[in-house]
Parts: sequence; structure tokens; C-alpha cells
Amino acid sequence: MAQSLHRMESVKDQAIVPLPVESWRPPPAAAMDAQAALENGRVLYCPALQFRLENNELRYLDASYSDARRKSIYIRADRAGLFGCDASEAEQRELLGLLKRFEASSMALLGALFPGYVEQMRAVGTSYRPRPTGTGDAALSWRKDDTRLHVDAFPSNPTQGLRILRVFSNIGTEPRIWRVGEPFERMAQHFLAKIPEPRPLLAKLLHTFGITKRTRSAYDHYMLYLHDLAKADLAYQRDSEQVTFAFPPASAWICFSDQVMHAAMSGQFMLEQTVHLPQAALAFPNESPLAVLERLTARKLL
Ligand code: SIN
Ligand code: FE
Repeated sequence: MAQSLHRMESVKDQAIVPLPVESWRPPPAAAMDAQAALENGRVLYCPALQFRLENNELRYLDASYSDARRKSIYIRADRAGLFGCDASEAEQRELLGLLKRFEASSMALLGALFPGYVEQMRAVGTSYRPRPTGTGDAALSWRKDDTRLHVDAFPSNPTQGLRILRVFSNIGTEPRIWRVGEPFERMAQHFLAKIPEPRPLLAKLLHTFGITKRTRSAYDHYMLYLHDLAKADLAYQRDSEQVTFAFPPASAWICFSDQVMHAAMSGQFMLEQTVHLPQAALAFPNESPLAVLERLTARKLL
């Protein structure tokens, strides 16, 4: 996998990197090649990593448990409770247990693979997506449409430079089909000239009025524009370099979703863990979206 340290030459052959782990708690062994690939913007694909549901949990493989207006049932590290769910109290308790178990498994996996992250990584939320991709919110608004290639960046939730690391598990019976796009730097070069100057005063107001959870930094400003410009550009969606990949049932995958251009085209029933990681924990900080954007704009963005 030594090639993973180098620039991605071909999205088709190199965007998805297989990782042969079979347990959510593998023996700790620093997977430096895998970490280099991950930080370089590849998707680590674990074909033999199944997340097993208990017998009593199988009935939750049913879209009707989710609130019709949301795409997921979720928990957050900073708020107690289960959100986005239409179910009895007893069922909500079981679903909460399921999400907590996926959180613990995901954190154990990341910790075993990437010991250098352990001290600084923080679980921020876990979601269960029981609806077919492209339905709900996505059908109403292009900004929320995750069937369009994008990097993750959220208007109300600026990260101020924290990386967004995600673990996904397909717990359904159909493949989850993704498109994975061109390397972050090439995408950023494509859209950069269309991004207006950051507006610090506006950012301050948005935070004061509680519209954003933290102040939107210049970095968050660029990330949000990249998210929106890519999703709004149908020619880019169609013509940019990309590969389609099917994550089969009972597989898992890991990526920095603030860096990997991704789009979920079909599939149903997926678990997802979101982790925040500071830049300081990265082994290859020069590969991060922050470093790329600071190089391209020739300025500090945090
Ligand atoms: C996304 O994070 O954009 C969608 C991932 C998925 O639903 O498979
Ligand atoms: Fe996304």
C-alpha cells in the first residue's frame, strides 16, 4: 500500500482502499499505511467487518421508526436522548442502546487502528439512517441532497478546523452505492475563484443570534462554499472524475468526510459514527483540507 502515500493518480483504482479487519476490536497494531491512505483522502473499505444486530433489534430494519421529516435517528454527545424517532419508550431505549453500541464499536476500531488519534478524538454523534437514500429532506432541497457529490460541511455547525472522521456500516440487505469524486485539492481548485471573501462580522452575528453553534471561521466559510458550489453544479456532478462503488451488506468503511467527495446513490439501513479530530492529531497535516486551502489561498484560515 506504499503508493497510498503518494498523490492519487486515478480515482477509479485508488479512491477505495481495502482494509482486511474482521473485528471491531482488532488487536491494536498501528496501521500506518491505512492511516496515510485515510489522511490522503481515501476511503478505507472493510469488506469483512460486520456489525451484528441482536435478534430483538432486527425489527428496527423498518423505515417507519424514523420521523418522516428527518433522514436519521440519532444521538449526540452534547445532549441526552434519542432524536428523529417515532417509537414507543421501550423501543426508543433499545434503539438508543443500539446506537451506543455502534458508537463504542466505532471508537474501539479507530483506537485500535490509529493509536495516535486516541487521546484527541471525540465521538460527537451517531446516526441510524433507515430510509432509502435521496428521500425525505434530500428530495426537497439541493443543499441537503446527499446524492450529489460533496464534502461534509454544515451551516449551523462550524468545526473551526476539527476534522470530520466517519465510520459507516451497512446493516441492510442491499448494497449502499456511493459515488466517490476527485481529490480534495483538485475540487478546491475547480471552485475556489467562485468563493467570496469570508465575512467575520456576519460570522459573529450568526453566532450571537445562535444560528451557528460556534463562530464560523474563514476555514468553515470556504468549506461551506465548497459543499454548496459542488452540489449546485450539475455539470460538475456529471463530468468530474468519479467512481461508483457498492458497499455490500455487512461491510463497513471509514473516511474523512470533510475531504472525500462522496454521494450516496442508493441503499437503505446504515449506521454512521461521527468523530471530531483536531489537526494536531494528524500524522500528515499537510494533506488536510485546512492545509490545502491555506496553500491555495496563501493565507491563514483559522
Ligand atoms: C453522506 O454522508 O453524505 C451520505 C452518506 C450515506 O448516507 O451513505
Ligand atoms: Fe456527506
